[in-house]
Amino acid sequence: MTNILHLKLKDHTYPIYVGKDILHQIGEYLIKEFIPSKVLVVNDASIIERYTPIVKDSLAEQGLDVNSLVIPSGEESKSLNQFSRILDTLIENQFDRNSIVIALGGGVVGDLAGFASAVYMRGIPFIQIPTTLQAQVDASVGGKTAINHTKGKNLIGAFHQPKLVLIDVNTLESLPEMDLRAGLIEVIKMGVIRDEPLFKLVEEHLDDIIALDEKILVEMITQACAGKAEIVSKDEKESRLRMVLNYGHTFGHALEAITEYKKYRHGEAIAIGMNCAARLAVNLDIFTESDFQRQNTLLKHAKLPGTVPKEISSEQLCTAMYHDKKVIDSTMRLILPTRIGEVVIRNDIPESMIKDAIIQCY
Ligand SMILES: NC(=O)c1ccc[n+]([C@@H]2O[C@H](COP(=O)([O-])OP(=O)(O)OC[C@H]3O[C@@H](n4cnc5c(N)ncnc54)[C@H](O)[C@@H]3O)[C@@H](O)[C@H]2O)c1
Ligand SMILES: [Zn+2]
Repeated sequence: MTNILHLKLKDHTYPIYVGKDILHQIGEYLIKEFIPSKVLVVNDASIIERYTPIVKDSLAEQGLDVNSLVIPSGEESKSLNQFSRILDTLIENQFDRNSIVIALGGGVVGDLAGFASAVYMRGIPFIQIPTTLQAQVDASVGGKTAINHTKGKNLIGAFHQPKLVLIDVNTLESLPEMDLRAGLIEVIKMGVIRDEPLFKLVEEHLDDIIALDEKILVEMITQACAGKAEIVSKDEKESRLRMVLNYGHTFGHALEAITEYKKYRHGEAIAIGMNCAARLAVNLDIFTESDFQRQNTLLKHAKLPGTVPKEISSEQLCTAMYHDKKVIDSTMRLILPTRIGEVVIRNDIPESMIKDAIIQCY
């Protein structure tokens, strides 16, 4: 079973395929959209043996001219250095505006290869083939691409939508379980912000998800991507609605920055952030204690952390939150839940209340 979603934007629409064992169909899916002059597959180093040959064979079957480039695994690769390597490869192999870049890997490779294709010759087409749950339900959909600067994460980037997204749930088989659990946070987040049935699906099928039940994974990922696609189609460049995707992220990004991106996986920091945001919403009387407990219980069952580490003071965390690049004109916009399935954007929360919520989350 393969599901097809369509991400509709003002000037074009692109497909998102979600299914099992569909990696070998990439050649067919690609030529339905576009017949490229050349293809560059940008791969994450940890998956080259397992998945790259399948992708390359499928492209070669369609008679396509394929080059490939391996990127070392890890966040450090979202660098100017790796970005230059991709551009060098495109230039050396005379890629033109009818060529295409394929990102095969997690969010790191997706963001990096996406950004290189956004700027090479002022933008050439690219495809996302995400191989982590995080990238399948979040990073690969929506067209945000970026690399990091030593002064901050994702500071250099562009909006550049892919031609298509191909999500093969079987690629999760080789993913370490903690990466799977960390990626699940973006699904749970989507459940809290707009989709109670999706939240319930995770509650009811957590064990099946961790056991990689293909049917449940396809259903869950399709539903999560449909949510993201709808938000992006209404607000491609994040003027307002798309901000709801930052639920838990202002707290979480601050935790990641303070711990220098070493202590937590992204999803783990966001889990703590969602707990803080939900506690703040309870304190404001806009979210019930029982809904707070429902979220908290699911995070615990998913073995995601929920407490702020004692060595980080509420003052320190709050200061780091004001440094987040999404704080506009020193106004902090916080996404707060009002029930499981609905959030509000608030910019009127006093700092003292933010600190109180953090203190309650130690
Ligand atoms: N563009 C967006 O909208 C957006 C949204 C969310 C996150 N992101 C970015 O995504 C990145 C995080 O993504 P991620 O969590 O996928 O990290 P990642 O790309 O670093 O992948 C995590 C780890 O899994 C390995 N890996 C990837 N696929 C695998 C597989 N199938 N089997 C075994 N190992 C595999 C990688 O080598 C890496 O070690 C961050 O840089 C973040 O900024 C972007
Ligand atoms: Zn996130």
